[in-house]
Amino acid sequence: MPAIATTVPGKIILVGEHAVVYGRPAIAVPVMQVQARAAITANPRAKPGTIRIQSANIGLETILDELSEEHPIRKTITSVADALHVDHIPACTIRLISTIPVASGLGSGAAIAVALIRSLSAFLGHPFSDDQVNALAFEIEKIHHLTPSGLDNTVITYAKPVYFIKDQPLETFQVGKPFLIAIGDTRISSPTALAVAEVHRSWKADKAFYERVFDSIGGIVIKARQAIESGDIELLGLLMNENHEWLRRINVSSPDLDHLVSVARMAGALGAKLSGGGRGGNMIALVTPENAERVAQALRTEGVMRTILTKIDSTRPLFE
Ligand code: MEV
Repeated sequence: MPAIATTVPGKIILVGEHAVVYGRPAIAVPVMQVQARAAITANPRAKPGTIRIQSANIGLETILDELSEEHPIRKTITSVADALHVDHIPACTIRLISTIPVASGLGSGAAIAVALIRSLSAFLGHPFSDDQVNALAFEIEKIHHLTPSGLDNTVITYAKPVYFIKDQPLETFQVGKPFLIAIGDTRISSPTALAVAEVHRSWKADKAFYERVFDSIGGIVIKARQAIESGDIELLGLLMNENHEWLRRINVSSPDLDHLVSVARMAGALGAKLSGGGRGGNMIALVTPENAERVAQALRTEGVMRTILTKIDSTRPLFE
């Protein structure tokens, strides 16, 4: 029997991370060069109810019952079964494969959840709509970090640029002129949950200051959307730079991120900033076809192992 398989992209946040947790808008886009895939094959000859899970990336080779009840993969599987009122999942093997680096701001946790929810609902005979997938993936995100905005699961589920405000209906928008983003990995693993929790502690200690910062970031996001829609790429670059400065002020940058951001700008990037939770993970740079390789090379010279060049436009890409 052929496997039922789903592939989903990673993501980057162009502008608005952290402030989005506090109700301000953010813009995120899918990154097709990194992907997560969930493939499910029925094992009619296995003992009924045996659900085998294999994921080389996270060194997982187990059966469902051996995972703790709180394990995000177990939670994902049981929440799909519960939503479909399925008591017994037929014996099967679930293979999870991901090229999205973990704890790097590219949405690895959300991508695995979205791919698994989609494949499992199809395997159980009731493929979920995008809205259903997104709602369940959001619940799983809450296990990874307690107060997610929902941005990661949303951009990965719909696989197109999103203008996102927490608890509000999805808004997509047109990209006036396609543009290029170079992504550079600091190779410093930085779980989003920790950065979000620390911002939360600081916000509690000085709400007036943090609310002002989040308002400023929200204003940048609104202008960035207009810049993207009208194809004003230079302005988008300036707004990304401004956003990075506010993120520095709330201590979610790091010396490595700041260094790579300035290296990218010196090499000709129109703008650069950290992306995602910060403290490590990935930075992004807005580049042109003419300077993309120069910026990527400059980042590699400074220790970035891999750069990804991704083109942002309005279309939803198709996976095999
Ligand atoms: C993580 O990719 C982005 C954050 O804004 C957290 C969130 O939106 O849940 C830091």
